[in-house]
Amino acid sequence: MTLYRDDLSRIQAEAFGEYADRLMPRVLGLLGAGDAKTRVLDIGCGAGISTRRLLDHGFSVVALEPSQTLINHARELAPEATFLCSSVWDGVLPACHAALAIGEPLTYHARDVDAGARLRGLLEYFRSALPPGGKFIFDFIEADGAPLDAKRFRTEREWVLLVDTVEDRAAHRLTRTIDTFTHVDALELDVWRRERELHEVVLFARGDVAKWLDAAGFEASLTDADPALPRRVLVSATRR
Ligand SMILES: C[S@@+](CC[C@H](N)C(=O)[O-])C[C@H]1O[C@@H](n2cnc3c(N)ncnc32)[C@H](O)[C@@H]1O
Repeated sequence: MTLYRDDLSRIQAEAFGEYADRLMPRVLGLLGAGDAKTRVLDIGCGAGISTRRLLDHGFSVVALEPSQTLINHARELAPEATFLCSSVWDGVLPACHAALAIGEPLTYHARDVDAGARLRGLLEYFRSALPPGGKFIFDFIEADGAPLDAKRFRTEREWVLLVDTVEDRAAHRLTRTIDTFTHVDALELDVWRRERELHEVVLFARGDVAKWLDAAGFEASLTDADPALPRRVLVSATRR
């Protein structure tokens, strides 16, 4: 799955940034007072909205993001952060005192991947990598609840976005088909470029995630993340 190529990356913050904007005050409250000696790992930092907020709160930030184009945008917004172009599932993660993963970056998985095993592995990793009292804050979309099938569009002067979300309830998965039309400056011609991305998202049962957190040695609260986004769960986990 190649995610967030050029055109979707360019419009990511404007089209989808509201969620991180709304959630970050709550996340910062959970993380507590920031200081430059506390390094937060911002997993799936996207266009850098959360990264900017973490820096403004006083934290040092290492931001991890598999899309180089998104990193280029995030770096403009948050130049003081250190950026790593990598998936959270590849290789060694940098040392940190706390970790954040919002906008469901832990839930993009191809169909042949055991997503639960990956998440359990990451929790095991943070059990040893975080200091006692260290926080791991992340979100996911839960498997139960009102259907999530939806068609959404948005038109702006320079871009058009079409998102078709289809839920496979039996498989606990969402497929988002995202078409972008981006205006291209080509002499006097009115040219629009179309790009399509398929995002495969795994849905987890809230009870399963709570069990995995407990087994991995975390004290955790799981609450609704955002009244505007049904079935989105925010996890605040503290290493025992
Ligand atoms: C919906 S966007 C959210 C971006 C940003 N966190 C926000 O809330 O605005 C999902 C992000 O997760 C990232 N992502 C997806 N799979 C990832 C992985 N395996 N490791 C790290 N980030 C990943 C995507 O590249 C994208 O930036």
